[in-house]
Amino acid sequence: MKRRIGILTSGGDCPGLNAAIRGVARAAYELFDAEIIGIRNGYGGLIEGEYQEMSKKQFSGILTLGGTILGTSRQPFRNMRVIDERGVDKVAAMKKTYKDLKLDCLVTLGGNGTHKTANLLSEEGLNVIGLPKTIDNDIYGTDFTFGFHTAVDIATDVIDRIHTTATSHGRCMVIEIMGNKAGWLTLYAGLAGGADVILLPEVPYDIEKVAEAVEARAKSKKAFSIIAVAEGAMSEEEAKMKKKEREAYRATLPYDCISKRIAAQLSEMVGVEARHVVPGHIQRGGSPSAYDRVLSTQFGVHAAELIRDEIYGVTVALDGNEIIHNKLKDIAGVPKPVPKDDHVLVTARNMGICMGD
Ligand code: F6P
Repeated sequence: MKRRIGILTSGGDCPGLNAAIRGVARAAYELFDAEIIGIRNGYGGLIEGEYQEMSKKQFSGILTLGGTILGTSRQPFRNMRVIDERGVDKVAAMKKTYKDLKLDCLVTLGGNGTHKTANLLSEEGLNVIGLPKTIDNDIYGTDFTFGFHTAVDIATDVIDRIHTTATSHGRCMVIEIMGNKAGWLTLYAGLAGGADVILLPEVPYDIEKVAEAVEARAKSKKAFSIIAVAEGAMSEEEAKMKKKEREAYRATLPYDCISKRIAAQLSEMVGVEARHVVPGHIQRGGSPSAYDRVLSTQFGVHAAELIRDEIYGVTVALDGNEIIHNKLKDIAGVPKPVPKDDHVLVTARNMGICMGD
């Protein structure tokens, strides 16, 4: 059985992309007669016809490598059906590249936007298989995405290092963790790093409650406090606003990020010496953890098994200890915020960690 497979990575990168690519390729070569075409820079390469016929050896030595050997780009889903300034119909262009390359299927590694476009292409008649990656862990239908656990390890290491300097100086340190819409990364890293306060987009905070928690620690002679705040966290007042209104309100404030704002507020309200830290893209960089190497490989190999069995229009997922697949149409565009009854969130609350509400 011969199969021509196109593979691309789209959206923000994360550790484990190369491990997953390698998993697809190794299993495909093992299970059937595979030809693999690497599409450059995500859907952008599919639109522009930028690709490379890959050889077996190009998948060697990449298990531990961060980033993506294929390159990536963000191609917002909302613009996919919009004709661009050059008059290019992106969907038609992607279908043409698929056809010109005589592909039997397309494997797309990406997050939410990538899955929405994967579903669109599937509805347009292409054979598509998704692999869920993102440090945000916010793809519906999978317990975990690959890249998430590595980012938790990195963010936890940041908190650990901040902890020692916070202790020395008796300071309140506010650490801003990635995750605009979902707080999974902040929740897990905050708990693993022993944060005193964890603020998530899903749990609007009351700054008075945060100040009380910091003050109580100061009074109990634990002069330092560690606050893990998700970049997308918002106050109770802001949560009531529409997105545009919130953005306009924030533009009036003298802070360019949430951690800076909270540090300034606590310094004024409690009188503590406060600093903010934004580790940013460090959280997406470097080699995948052992957990993510295994998960990425399992996901990649399952994609090759699906190609062998000619099962398309699906994305690979983790369900407990099992690797499963969900229909793209069932998961594309469905949000996966941290639910109120999430067991890690409840654990944090029952530890006495202030969640800001
Ligand atoms: O989706 C992953 C993520 O790292 C988010 O946590 C973050 O909000 C966003 O990407 C940052 O995007 P960019 O790399 O385009 O600045």
